[in-house]
Amino acid sequence: MIGIDIGTTGAKGIALSEEGRVLASATESYPLSTPQPGWSEQDPELWWTAAQRLLDVLPDGPLGLSGQMHGLVVLDEHGEVLRPAILWNDQRTAAECLEIERRVGLERLIELTGNRALTGFTAPKLLWLRTHEPETYARIRHILLPKDYVRYRLTGELTIDAADASGTLLFDVARRRWSDEVCDALEIPLEWLPTAHESTEVATAGDQAAAALGVGIVAPGRVSVVLGTSGVVFAVLPEYAPDAEARVHVFCHAVPATWHAMGVMLSAAGSLAWLRDVVGAEYGALDEEASRWPPGVEGLLFAPYLAGERTPHADPLARGAFTGLSVRHDRGALARAVLEGVAFGLRDSLELLRALGVRAEVGRVSGGGARSELWLKIVASVLQLPLERTESEEGSAYGAALLAGVRAGVFADAADAVERCVRVRDRIDPEWDYEDAYARFRHLYPTLKEL
Ligand code: XUL
Repeated sequence: MIGIDIGTTGAKGIALSEEGRVLASATESYPLSTPQPGWSEQDPELWWTAAQRLLDVLPDGPLGLSGQMHGLVVLDEHGEVLRPAILWNDQRTAAECLEIERRVGLERLIELTGNRALTGFTAPKLLWLRTHEPETYARIRHILLPKDYVRYRLTGELTIDAADASGTLLFDVARRRWSDEVCDALEIPLEWLPTAHESTEVATAGDQAAAALGVGIVAPGRVSVVLGTSGVVFAVLPEYAPDAEARVHVFCHAVPATWHAMGVMLSAAGSLAWLRDVVGAEYGALDEEASRWPPGVEGLLFAPYLAGERTPHADPLARGAFTGLSVRHDRGALARAVLEGVAFGLRDSLELLRALGVRAEVGRVSGGGARSELWLKIVASVLQLPLERTESEEGSAYGAALLAGVRAGVFADAADAVERCVRVRDRIDPEWDYEDAYARFRHLYPTLKEL
């Protein structure tokens, strides 16, 4: 089974045996463009080229796809891409979000879609195009999300799964189909939308649902904790139950007839990548230097809002900060504060999930940041939750390959795929007391907001 994840900084492909062993893997990087501050775009051709290269080097087998969620790909009547895709971490649509909540009504929007209008989601990007690029907008005949564009190039099909469709804000998340009511209110033609199926039917899912499946999150009890460019805490919901204030997202899961709630921070491992670039160090060196500092870094705090934020502060204008610097603080101190600041952000999400009634007994981690034991020890301590690493570190691509196996009949269903393939490698227990530091962190955003 082959799984390909169309990520933000590159694509990853793996080949899995029926017992879940990784037989081959490959990655392809591509750039992201920020034509203006807060904007984030990518040429869909980059994904297609990367996917072709991965398929060239991987063995043949049933293929599953996952990918960055929410990104808007617009096609004309001939299926040609009209402009670069606008990505999940693009922040240009604050005005359109207000417009959507006004047109649909906030309460009704949350009832139907499980979410409020957030800048990263797909629908506000369409409204932005209508206002700012009317000529492009007039030529739109189809819209797709990133990995679905790759499927389109491979098969000519215009299709999507319920999990990824949930992140468009045009989907009736309770009924698992496009929402006539929202599309009507926003004047978006239903004909533009791809046909929606369950993930197991079409072997695709948004990257968060795929990552969760890939680490075995198919039922309540375990949560998925992702330290990728974005940071996520994700829990399965047995039924559709949106948060009345929509502080966390509620979406369809890749497992039919289940839903999930998640908090998403925009800069998790992204914050560490930023620090690495700014100070010109390798991750290994930063990790080692950070480990020499005690928990709490002698009062140094980092606000991880380098790209604005989603959960718990839905604020595209939020920004990062270090506070509490002293002459004693060195590069390792900055690094440890970044690791801790991201962990505090994840704790904010976990607290919101707990308030929704989510029971978290253990976290299953994935994403590039999960390679750092120090970071995992910090996250486990801050979340007060044991964390498990699975044998495969392939995250979303692994989940995509499992979906390919379900669709091909290798597994009876998603739970069977997990049962047969996902194995725990090691466990990291909470070690340090972060309650005081977390309490101070909670004051950071409200205190800095005005400034
Ligand atoms: C989820 C989200 C991000 C992207 C990252 O809502 O926006 O996690 O999917 O690829």
